[in-house]
Amino acid sequence: MKELRTQVAIVGAGPAGLLLGQLLTREGVDNVIVEQRSRDYVEKRVRAGVIEDGIAKLLVSAGVGERMMREGLVHHGVEIRFDGASHRIALSELADGRSIMVYGQQEVVKDLVHLRVSEGSALFFESEVTLINGLTSDAANIEFKGPDGRVRITCDFVAGCDGTFGVANRAIPSSELCRVERTYPFSWLGILAQAPPATEELVYCRHERGFALYSLRSPTVSRLYLGVPPSSRLEDWSDDRIWSELNLRLATREKPEINQGPILERGITAMRSIVIAPMRFGRLFLAGDAAHIVPPTGAKGMNLALADVRELSRALVEKLKRNDDRPADAYSETCLERVWRAEEFSTYMTQMLHPSYEDDFENGIQRARLHQAVTSHEASTVLSRNYVDLNSL
Ligand code: PHB
Repeated sequence: MKELRTQVAIVGAGPAGLLLGQLLTREGVDNVIVEQRSRDYVEKRVRAGVIEDGIAKLLVSAGVGERMMREGLVHHGVEIRFDGASHRIALSELADGRSIMVYGQQEVVKDLVHLRVSEGSALFFESEVTLINGLTSDAANIEFKGPDGRVRITCDFVAGCDGTFGVANRAIPSSELCRVERTYPFSWLGILAQAPPATEELVYCRHERGFALYSLRSPTVSRLYLGVPPSSRLEDWSDDRIWSELNLRLATREKPEINQGPILERGITAMRSIVIAPMRFGRLFLAGDAAHIVPPTGAKGMNLALADVRELSRALVEKLKRNDDRPADAYSETCLERVWRAEEFSTYMTQMLHPSYEDDFENGIQRARLHQAVTSHEASTVLSRNYVDLNSL
């Protein structure tokens, strides 16, 4: 078995693992990233595309924001649509001039991988981690099997950035871990379409038939979602059915048709919330989806993950370079306070915008909440601040 030595072994090359690698490298902390999937797979995995103000600034300060600043779309408001009427939330006016950046998660991943590869830093794709060991001893180690055989990495710390179903959180003894979870009675069917967006800002829509979201990626590519029953399968949804349902939910009197075009990508995502605590066990630190999942209605998943690694890189640098344990010891608690704020906001958005097919009491509450969100200055201010910059408040 080949042997390597590094300071931080990072499991997972999603946005969290890759940004952590970049932040550590910039501080002179040696690190290795190990990813189970191929480069092509991680670069093409389509996810949400809303980046908070403070997180966009973090990407710029990490040296990876150049293309995002050029190609990303800065938005100053969002639309909320219900009972057939549109209401604009003036995000920037209500959130101290801050704005959101619309730029796909896979573009962030591409930019990070490109930078890592051009710098020649260690990044192993198609490499499955089979063992994480020594977390409470003098040195940790991980083993993985890659295209060139087996490798053992001895390290000071392991960063688990490999998602909910990855190996990292499973390396924590179950007696040391608390996992809380909630599922929601719907999924999202998402499509990427070669069609100019018929809207300048994102539209979150509550319709009697279900939730819909009109988002975009560029002046020629739209990203749209439909709330569907959790039992829905992609085979149930022909192109015609998708477009007619989107039209029924999203069309307004002024714009009776949405722009259609070839569907480039489609998928169904179940909605749930998960929080795993603590986010640290000995020499292992969890970040991003490895520690928590939010429903996508608040667009918080990647922002939360990148905010975790902002904190984690600081903690590891202090520990490794200045022998200061305090930020690492506080890591889990500091993150979890923010994670729960994101869970609360994502749950609020989810519950307010997905009509119940069974419970008209719930539907009445949703309408009252929506009405308050768009008419009360205080309520729309809270919504705006959380939407635009929850992770840096
Ligand atoms: C997206 O553009 O993919 C998107 C936007 C907002 C969300 C979720 C996804 O809340």
